[in-house]
Amino acid sequence: MRKVVAVANQKGGVGKTTTSVNMAACLAGEDCRVLLIDLDPQGNATSGLGIDRHECDRSVYDALVAEESLEDLRIETATKGLELVPSTADLAGAQIELVDHPQREFQLRRALDEFDAEYDFIILDCPPSLGLLTLNALAAANTVLVPIQTEYYALEGLGHLLNTVELIHEHLNPALSLEGILLTMYDGRTNLSEQVADEVNTHFGDLVFETIIPRNVRLGEAPSFGMPITEYAGSSRGARSYRDFAREFLERNGHDRFHDAAS
Ligand SMILES: Nc1ncnc2c1ncn2[C@@H]1O[C@H](COP(=O)(O)OP(=O)(O)OP(=O)(O)O)[C@@H](O)[C@H]1O
Ligand SMILES: [Mg+2]
Repeated sequence: MRKVVAVANQKGGVGKTTTSVNMAACLAGEDCRVLLIDLDPQGNATSGLGIDRHECDRSVYDALVAEESLEDLRIETATKGLELVPSTADLAGAQIELVDHPQREFQLRRALDEFDAEYDFIILDCPPSLGLLTLNALAAANTVLVPIQTEYYALEGLGHLLNTVELIHEHLNPALSLEGILLTMYDGRTNLSEQVADEVNTHFGDLVFETIIPRNVRLGEAPSFGMPITEYAGSSRGARSYRDFAREFLERNGHDRFHDAAS
């Protein structure tokens, strides 16, 4: 059974794309079949996987607006087991083009419902807003994973996001739940990171993943080489942390099969 996970936080630069790309690559490394859908017009997940978006003639835009099949839009990546539906710049226009569409929030869900390819996980990398693209992701997802940058304003806007998830759960997608919160860019040298992590843990308890992603130079460099961290610097702390996270995620999802195979 496949699971659709939206990686969302309307705050910019908190590690959504870094998490989507590296979680997807690490899950593929655990023998899962993974599809990453880049829902951000910035296309960072696409370029981060080494795909030149200027050479993509089609993208998730064509699924949302022209109702093309995802089957024809997905492409292979250099990582075995990981496929991508890329983003192109015209995705920025999708929000406006869909405004009058009666099913505008459900375009991604429709595309996924019509697409019965065998994946274990479909990861949705969302843009930094609660606009129509993120709504499409939340209406199509089973769960939402929220990366939080371990810094001073970390919790700002989080209430708004959680309210939105609650509203979507009530009105658009009763199946939606929270996958959890992932602390990112943790800097062990500062008291601040520790304080913020404590605060998030106090507020959200078991929803917070035990694995914490450290601030790691290699994680920041990997996208400019078009590689997930597992390929760019497989033994770095950043790679280890995303592998640990993927395993914790699988354990929480009862996928011991993959976990056993890997350890
Ligand atoms: N753990 C980390 N250590 C070091 N750098 C990181 C880490 N996580 C992310 N970065 C860097 O921080 C920046 C923001 O990360 P990322 O693009 O993943 O955030 P985002 O939430 O997807 O941003 P946006 O809201 O613009 O989509 C990027 O330059 C990324 O390479
Ligand atoms: Mg991003």
